[in-house]
Amino acid sequence: GDVAVLVPAAGAGVRLGPGRPKALRLLAGEPLLVHAVRRLAAAPSVRTIVVAAPLAELDAVRDLLAPVAPVTVVPGGAERQASVAAALAAVPPGPEIVLVHDAARALTPPELVEAVAAAVRAGRPAVIPVLPVVDTIKEVGAEETVLGTVDRSVLRIVQTPQGFRRSVLAAAHAAAGDALTDDAGLVEKQGVPVSCVPGSEYALKITRPFDLALAEHLLAAGG
Ligand code: C5P
Repeated sequence: GDVAVLVPAAGAGVRLGPGRPKALRLLAGEPLLVHAVRRLAAAPSVRTIVVAAPLAELDAVRDLLAPVAPVTVVPGGAERQASVAAALAAVPPGPEIVLVHDAARALTPPELVEAVAAAVRAGRPAVIPVLPVVDTIKEVGAEETVLGTVDRSVLRIVQTPQGFRRSVLAAAHAAAGDALTDDAGLVEKQGVPVSCVPGSEYALKITRPFDLALAEHLLAAGG
């Protein structure tokens, strides 16, 4: 394998309701992070996995993941971007392709990991998995008054893993200003082209209680 994967898993998961940090919430009896790392480790290209965990859970996360795959666990930061930067700093020399993958996308198929890595290997500096937008999208102003209808045909839902030539991701994080919600956003600011590959419905980000219930059903159905 020539790929390192960074797994930001240090978020609180406030939108999921009260409980443990999101990456440690249970899905079919196992933490989301365990599901996510198992699928990453099943991708043949993946050599290195670095997880950014909540500071208070470092030992718990190391113990959880030890039977799943060889991983390095580092403390995350206050924002997702800081967690990714901390994980990136812990990647050993070697892998020239770096993927960034949310622990919350626990059911992401290994095939999607391989597809993103393959696109970077083929020469793209930055690659994101995307899905079309199926709903009508409105822009709203004060008091939820509609300002207009957005042309959804030019919009995409963006998932992870996002893949980068290692030097491109390192330069983007070194230059990063305000925290963004994804790594491709930092790369875009550097003027580097970002390419899309087809995403997967299974790579949904488990954010709200409905998502967790949906993920339980997908797993029970063999997902
Ligand atoms: O909050 P959000 O859904 O954007 O989080 C996406 C991913 O980033 C999750 O896997 C979460 O654990 C991670 N995260 C992190 N450090 C933070 C905030 C979020 O690693 N401070």
